Amino acid sequence: MTSTDTTTDTTGATRGGGIGIEDLELAASHHVLDLAQLAEVRGVDPAKYTRGIGLDEMGVVAADEDVVTLGASAAERLLARSGSEGVRTLLFATESGVDHSKSAAVIVHGLLGLPSSVRSVELKQACYAGAAAVQAAIGIVARRPEEKVLVITADVARYGLGSSGEPTQGAGAVAMLIGADPSLVEIEPVSGLYSADVDDFWRPNDSTTAMVNARLSISAYKNALLGAWDDLQEQGGPSAEDIEAFVYHQPFTKMAVKAQQFLAQRSGAELDPEALVQGAVYDRRLGNTYTASLWAGLASLLDHRPGLDGARIGLFSYGSGSAGEMLTGIVRPGYMSSARAGSAVAALDGRVPVTVAEYEQLHENQFGSSEDVETPRVTTAPFRFAGVQGGARVYERNSED
Ligand code: COA
Repeated sequence: MTSTDTTTDTTGATRGGGIGIEDLELAASHHVLDLAQLAEVRGVDPAKYTRGIGLDEMGVVAADEDVVTLGASAAERLLARSGSEGVRTLLFATESGVDHSKSAAVIVHGLLGLPSSVRSVELKQACYAGAAAVQAAIGIVARRPEEKVLVITADVARYGLGSSGEPTQGAGAVAMLIGADPSLVEIEPVSGLYSADVDDFWRPNDSTTAMVNARLSISAYKNALLGAWDDLQEQGGPSAEDIEAFVYHQPFTKMAVKAQQFLAQRSGAELDPEALVQGAVYDRRLGNTYTASLWAGLASLLDHRPGLDGARIGLFSYGSGSAGEMLTGIVRPGYMSSARAGSAVAALDGRVPVTVAEYEQLHENQFGSSEDVETPRVTTAPFRFAGVQGGARVYERNSED
């Protein structure tokens, strides 16, 4: 285990400077599908899903939910707990954006009632955009340490019905507050980078489901992981032995197991498999959440693994297409929080189960913006997508909240 120098502030809390994650919060969809039920209907051994790909459930959005409502719900709970003082930037990372021009960030800005003096923008590079947003946020805070940045990662993963990607769908959001002298995880300045133009996964502008070359997506992930790792080493980053636990982008949690094997081979280090279990608790239940997947993994690790005070962790972000980044962070003492963990479990446990037939109907019911429509009132989350009026999407605070 490694640790940074720390100081004790006037409240008695141990703080160590730097910039990173002050707090984070997870939001889940209104519905959930048990993958054992999907396996039964598709004529597949349920163990293929639970053990073979490492998923138990997948989040399914209600007709009045999307990435905006998921992201806004996570952000509202985060700011209620940690405050919005100093927030002057809102970065929204997603690959299931609701408009080609207007950002989800601006809509969330309005729903949360943030001041007009908050810049709001959306970032895209498949599942990687969350890490890019965190790095951009750190840059902003480095220039003005009194500022904070609200980073939202939110996605709804959709593949075709009956396709090989079908069990690796899901939905969820993680909102993070980035600031100086953070109380949760300090992100270290050096990271490992990798970019390569690959057609392993993409979603054309006129398609509601993703195209994926499954085998290529796994080899492209591997190339990005090893490329980013090699770059981290060249940049003078820590060796694998100096990293207590890794969290990987996990579109399905077996992918993290594969990633750890690839990294162990490359680095020659013996890597602790236990951290993968503790970092997979939420993703096993959310399914794939694209940009939010890594950060839900981080939330899961912090909520389930004691003894990380002052420890260095590795965070690998991968986005098909492709971009990878290996970040490292130092976990702050006192990082475990029953309020944060309780909120995540409540979001997951509070979901309403759907049958496979109900899921299939929701999957097919996609609202375009060419026709005005009023969505059924289903979600009990703080915000809902009310429908389309005059071609524009309408969002509202949920009166049932
Ligand atoms: N019990 C236990 N394990 C089983 C099993 C059973 N009855 N049947 C199959 N498995 C295992 C396989 O051995 C395999 O494990 P391995 O990868 O360790 O060898 C795993 O389950 C998946 O089986 P496979 O035949 O490869 O599944 P698939 O062809 O249906 O595809 C994905 C799996 C993940 C590639 C597919 O769901 C997909 O395309 N997902 C979207 C793309 C994606 O997320 N890519 C990741 C990089 S971004």
